[in-house]
Amino acid sequence: MNNSLKRLLQELEIFGRTHDGYYNISADTGEFFYILVLISKAKNVLEVGTSDGYSTIWLGKAAKQNKGKITTIEISEHKVKMAAYNFKRAKLSNIKIVQEDALQEIPKLKGKFDFLFLDAVKEDYINYFKLAYPKLTKGAVIVADNAIMFEKYMRDYLSYVRKNKNLKSVLVPIGSGVEFSLKLK
Ligand SMILES: C[S@@+](CC[C@H](N)C(=O)[O-])C[C@H]1O[C@@H](n2cnc3c(N)ncnc32)[C@H](O)[C@@H]1O
Repeated sequence: MNNSLKRLLQELEIFGRTHDGYYNISADTGEFFYILVLISKAKNVLEVGTSDGYSTIWLGKAAKQNKGKITTIEISEHKVKMAAYNFKRAKLSNIKIVQEDALQEIPKLKGKFDFLFLDAVKEDYINYFKLAYPKLTKGAVIVADNAIMFEKYMRDYLSYVRKNKNLKSVLVPIGSGVEFSLKLK
């Protein structure tokens, strides 16, 4: 990763910590996702909940190194504008941002995804996941943020992925807690 991208990520990380309402993943969670995309060789990443694009830049940079791309969905017009500006600054042209309610948008998405990141409304993780599931490849990685901090709002999701025989799922105590799942078949 080049120095100007590292500087931008640092700037956005500080911005998120010092301003209300952006709810970015932690920097170590960003590093973790970056590594996960690289080792899984994911080429088609889907993110639900962009905010100002901090996590998208981590994921998009790794996807670019895999010669892949990312689609990210954000409902807020203001945040979509901020994120689009940040993606330009990051010089990442492999990011497609969609301004829409993810519950409406996911069923319309074309193609398959080999990496899914859930980070919008916690109570809806189960719904995002069920809508995205038919579009996930065998071996797809699914990561869901806030599995410790907001565990009580996402219990149905956590229980569903942990009991599902087609998935292997484990809680990773990084940042706000990440539920990491692998689609086995
Ligand atoms: C936790 S923030 C995302 C943070 C971002 N992933 C990061 O780490 O930089 C959640 C975002 O989901 C968006 N959101 C909420 N409901 C949504 C929905 N139904 N569809 C798409 N985005 C939604 C919010 O506007 C908010 O920006």
